[in-house]
Amino acid sequence: MAEKPTVALGIDIGGSGIKGAPVNLVTGEFLEERCKVATPSRSTPEAVAKIVDEIAAQFMDTLPADAPIGVTIPGIVKHGVVQSAANIDKAWMGYDGEKLFSKALGRHVHLVNDADAAGVAELRYGAAKGKDGLIILTTLGTGIGIALLYDGVLIPNAELGHMELNGHDAESRAAASAKDREGLSYEEWATQRLQPYYAMLEFLLSPDLFVVGGGVSRKSEKFLPYLRLNTPIIPATLQNAAGIIGAAALAAD
Ligand code: BGC
Repeated sequence: MAEKPTVALGIDIGGSGIKGAPVNLVTGEFLEERCKVATPSRSTPEAVAKIVDEIAAQFMDTLPADAPIGVTIPGIVKHGVVQSAANIDKAWMGYDGEKLFSKALGRHVHLVNDADAAGVAELRYGAAKGKDGLIILTTLGTGIGIALLYDGVLIPNAELGHMELNGHDAESRAAASAKDREGLSYEEWATQRLQPYYAMLEFLLSPDLFVVGGGVSRKSEKFLPYLRLNTPIIPATLQNAAGIIGAAALAAD
């Protein structure tokens, strides 16, 4: 059996920036400083592929020739094809992103959901390291991303950010963007929006641990203490590096 690679390139496509770095898969650390380019205002597949190629080019000289390359996208990904586009350009719907990026870079690229990547990164190198049972990672940002991890195995493409809650798409009320848009205090957001959301996830899935990621997790002390759940809930530790690290790790699997 071929040995598992120890280095891979991860690229994370987000709403404001597209970021990439080569990752040491033993430690989960970046091998070089991260490169970040602003996401184009119309993030069509072609415009995004151009930037992904630009970022990859920054590291090609030092990256081993056989290093896997992983890219994240905020949507469902089945066999390389993007199958939802809640917070990205609608042109992505049904688009074979894996083929597009592989063609742009001239080598195989593995495409994964952004929250799945973050979940795998937290499990292998971050807040959930060494934990088993059912771990639910939630990313609170423009939308709500979910990674379901059971005894170290990822169940991909769980879209529980779109669960219906009190007649609404949950992420439209409970994502960090809803807090900002509606000018809610941390307490209001936590008690009125996050509490019913996490309580419903807990009731439906009986997890062993919740891990909370996304940019706002840096301020977790302002909202996690308001939550009353039976499941332990902790902040992610890799923060905005998680997508890059997880994309690299999943590409190498
Ligand atoms: C998308 C998910 C994504 C999440 C976080 C949701 O709107 O449907 O696929 O993981 O946002 O970006």
